[in-house]
Amino acid sequence: MDPFDERPLGAKVAGGLEEGPLTGQVLAEHFGVSRQAIWKAVQALRAEGMEVASESGGYRRGGGGFGPLSLSWRCNRPVVFHSETGSTNRDLFTLALDGAEAGTLVVAERQVAGKGRLGRTWVSSEGKNLSFSLLLRPSLLPEQAPLLCLAAAVAIHEVTGLGIKWPNDILAPTADGVGAKVSGILAELHAEVGHLHFVVLGVGLNVHAQDFPEGVVATSLAEACPGRVWDRGALLGELVDRIESRCYQLQTDPEGVLSAWRAGSVTLGHEVRVGQHQGVAVDLREDGALILETAQGRVPILAGDVQMVLSS
Ligand code: BTN
Repeated sequence: MDPFDERPLGAKVAGGLEEGPLTGQVLAEHFGVSRQAIWKAVQALRAEGMEVASESGGYRRGGGGFGPLSLSWRCNRPVVFHSETGSTNRDLFTLALDGAEAGTLVVAERQVAGKGRLGRTWVSSEGKNLSFSLLLRPSLLPEQAPLLCLAAAVAIHEVTGLGIKWPNDILAPTADGVGAKVSGILAELHAEVGHLHFVVLGVGLNVHAQDFPEGVVATSLAEACPGRVWDRGALLGELVDRIESRCYQLQTDPEGVLSAWRAGSVTLGHEVRVGQHQGVAVDLREDGALILETAQGRVPILAGDVQMVLSS
């Protein structure tokens, strides 16, 4: 436990209970606060849904917890938590323009104007899923920014075990072979020619949701992986660390990210249609383009929606 840690007391108490139970007295002495302050911090963690039992050996932390204190502990970085907001991407963009540090995370339980790719909206059930945005300030060129979405998709694939549809959708398998969307990524840039200032990387991930907007082929982790328990706070902590590390890997080892993407892809090797092009997706180019083998030859696809072509 680091007494000079600047996180709120509740986050420090949650971290302090990492190794096992501790009494209020021990925690109070360690953090240089009163036992009353520790008790209040424990109550605040419980109010966020974290299990904290009082036993003879002191407080014992269990799972759960989704709120500013639990996420500040789980994610170990500056966290801005909103019960409701328009869009976490929009919020973080504003913070980034004001100089927020790389790694800052904005999380919302409910977005009323969630943004999706290509000008679409993103709708997510309140209290059941993950909607968050992470601030990245990588040393990359603006034209390399699409690779950040691929890197984030690799990270989500690694944490969830689900497949990547080009460029960065995460899909659960379905009987018809098309797949149902579990997660989407939207990266928004602040750049000038030749210089990338920052990237706001937004992720929406269906964890426990069961209802989806009409016409949307989607599912959730809970539906796709029955029997597995998904603790949203723990999942978020793991995801942001993994996303950050895969994204910054692009600075030194882009090929490592691309090969991990190829390994997790459910697009490569399949007949697909993107806009007016149809062919077999045969590779991912170093700039992130999808290479289609078409009747007219190899075509690089830089943007668009991939549709699986099912053999009848
Ligand atoms: C997609 O269209 O697949 C991308 C969806 C991205 C949604 C997330 S939810 C958190 C962040 N804030 C937003 O407004 N959008 C992204």
